Amino acid sequence: MAEVKASLICAVAAVFLSSAVLAVVEDLDDTFKETRVNDIWLVDFYAPWCGYCKKLEPIWQEVGVELKTSGSPVRVGKMDATAYSGMASEFGVRGYPTIKLLKGDLAYNYKGPRTKDDIVEFANRVAGPAVRALPSKQMFEHMLRRHDVLFVYVGGASPLKEKYNDAASELIVYTYFFSASEDVLPESVTLPELPAVVVFKDETYFTYDEYEEGGLASWVNKERFQGYLQIDGFTLYELGDTGKLVAIAVIDEKDPTEQSGRLKALIQRVAKEYREHFNRDFQFGHMDGNDYINSLIMGEVTVPSVIILNTSNEQYFLPSEPIETVEQMVQFISSVLNGSAQAYGGDGIIQRIKRVAFDAKSTVMSVFRSSPLLGCFLFGLPLGVISLMCYGICTAESDDGSDDIDALKREGMTDEEEDEEEEEEERQRAAELEGPEEGEEMEEEDAGEKDPEDKKTD
Ligand SMILES: *[C@@H]1O[C@H](CO)[C@@H](O)[C@H](O)[C@H]1NC(C)=O
Ligand SMILES: *[C@@H]1O[C@H](CO)[C@@H](O)[C@H](O)[C@H]1NC(C)=O
Repeated sequence: MAEVKASLICAVAAVFLSSAVLAVVEDLDDTFKETRVNDIWLVDFYAPWCGYCKKLEPIWQEVGVELKTSGSPVRVGKMDATAYSGMASEFGVRGYPTIKLLKGDLAYNYKGPRTKDDIVEFANRVAGPAVRALPSKQMFEHMLRRHDVLFVYVGGASPLKEKYNDAASELIVYTYFFSASEDVLPESVTLPELPAVVVFKDETYFTYDEYEEGGLASWVNKERFQGYLQIDGFTLYELGDTGKLVAIAVIDEKDPTEQSGRLKALIQRVAKEYREHFNRDFQFGHMDGNDYINSLIMGEVTVPSVIILNTSNEQYFLPSEPIETVEQMVQFISSVLNGSAQAYGGDGIIQRIKRVAFDAKSTVMSVFRSSPLLGCFLFGLPLGVISLMCYGICTAESDDGSDDIDALKREGMTDEEEDEEEEEEERQRAAELEGPEEGEEMEEEDAGEKDPEDKKTD
């Protein structure tokens, strides 16, 4: 009797647990097309075979738990994009995993790091109102402390406000948008006219000028980073969307020399003092160490030095002589801007071939570096076997040689036709079995190519 009771409790507990798990991350199918419109959804489009998707799975579960327990209206789901490929392509899914927040008719792509906190922050930001009101001085101060870059619309209803709303609902994937009345701002802020769109950053503020800057969305896109940044691979990838060139001081922060410090101070000064001239086209910053840049340009930059990258076409620029003064730096940047500086790299066919070779070489090198024995085994063994085989074939007596070829034939390693019907049949069967497998492999490669983020975010 007691046993029955216990197993009953177990069963109830199991049902309860599994339903709780189901509720946190919902498995989506074809019916999602109809059900999605009523709610805000955060969806992971995955493929069963993709490694990055498997890595995301436990994180996705945590995201589901966090959003659920915090009372967020966002529902979390996942969809096998290979099983429902029609739906997936309707949502514009190309690589795996693809994370999207779906809100009414709009779909927002998540491109940030795949960590729980980043994804949850994204979901809360995008799911909420595009423009959030800052009702008090305290609230304004609080947000100013929390955000390095703060966009605020100041004023009442106006055509500018409409534009601000439009820009916000497009660019909420990148940053928050606020609105406030003038009396909420600190006294030190003086705006020439109202309404105005202002960005607070770099310990000061800048006002949007419709006539000088062009569209509001493009202005926001260019202003959404601080004027000077510590740059890493991921930041560089994020900066790509701004269309700006990136001027980087490559320095060694672990072993800071006087020269490194001077160069960093120099580029910081240019970023600040020449903002008017260069802000529209350049982002400034420094990078610690030259490893990342070296693999990017497939070469070696000296530390410390300055490099300018064009992330849209993978070209880069180097000063003809070491930069020592503000004037030299300004000269260098101007020469890139007016097209007189020598461009290196690029995304042409030769560069791409070079990239493939470079990546292959780095893979081999990194295997050898981390484990020389394994390297010898992985790359030495096949080489040894091949050379032994060549040696065997070349030095063999003629009748021995034919035996060798027979042996190869039997193992299906030659292209020669076989006469026996049996073998032909066997091969056909094998081909049938192989067919779909090969197809899958191609798909995987395809997806890998189409999702360059993977490489850069991980
Ligand atoms: C950077 O690349 C883009 C895209 O190819 C190009 O239009 C632009 O002129 C380049 N900028 C410079 C300074 O070379
Ligand atoms: C481009 O800018 C550099 C640096 O300011 C200057 O020396 C050069 O004469 C300029 N070239 C053209 C074609 O304007």
